[in-house]
Amino acid sequence: MGYQDASGRRLSYDSYLRIPQLLELQQGLTQAHDELLFIVVHQVYELWFKVLIHELEAVRGAIEAEELRAARHSLARVKVIEDLLVEQVAVLETMAPQDFLTFRSELAPASGFQSVQFREIEFMSGLKDAGYIKTLDRDGDARARLQRRLDEPSLHDAFSALIERRGITVSDLYRQGGRHADLLELAESLLDHDEGFRLWRLRHVEMVERQIGDKPGTGGSTGVRYLQSTLGKRFFPELWEVRSQL
Ligand code: HEM
Repeated sequence: MGYQDASGRRLSYDSYLRIPQLLELQQGLTQAHDELLFIVVHQVYELWFKVLIHELEAVRGAIEAEELRAARHSLARVKVIEDLLVEQVAVLETMAPQDFLTFRSELAPASGFQSVQFREIEFMSGLKDAGYIKTLDRDGDARARLQRRLDEPSLHDAFSALIERRGITVSDLYRQGGRHADLLELAESLLDHDEGFRLWRLRHVEMVERQIGDKPGTGGSTGVRYLQSTLGKRFFPELWEVRSQL
């Protein structure tokens, strides 16, 4: 018995996971050997971004419901996934810059800059910038998805509301942590997420410099210099600032 697929067949590995469809999705533009790796790595990132978004929604819901243990449980998963995203950069670094050049010119003007899920993660965490919405295609649902993330509360909003409800500030939290141990642990888990995401930014820019040096990006930015300008972005700036005050 068990579940059946849409055409009434017994469920199998292929039909449940849609493996044939998944394996159809790697269509390169050239015959370059390394293009398959380049596509798969990007697609894998997008799949993990999808899971991160799902988890961050759960974290926000749990904070709003004051279920802080559940929030920390999901944030622990978020951090492990982020560690994996940082590790994975090394796979693309096995590509020689000369080999990348054999198909790079075909990619413009496409760029990771246009990753909607990446911006959703930024917006959901607390880094909202309406300017990005205009840079996306009018067609499709990308703009609507990002607009929704702009309008809804971020993790930063949910956390700020929580400490306000407890009648304290971030400085009180770090000075009298004993009285709000659950909140302090949550703050440190949020910081782990902030740090995990920034470590990816650092690792990505390092890899980009190795691949293209000082050349402009396919998305039209200054490349490495633009990416370096994003390294100061923090989801929870107060949680970093409070450390200087202790
Ligand atoms: C050979 C590999 C790669 C190179 C040379 C590269 C290069 C770049 C460059 C130059 C930019 C700046 C925007 C532009 O002008 O295009 C950028 C942005 C970006 N890339 Fe990559 N990238 C690579 C791989 C990846 C991978 C595997 C991901 C995973 C999803 C990724 C995600 C992003 C994202 C999200 C941005 C936007 C960052 C922001 O605006 O803060 N990139 N990349």
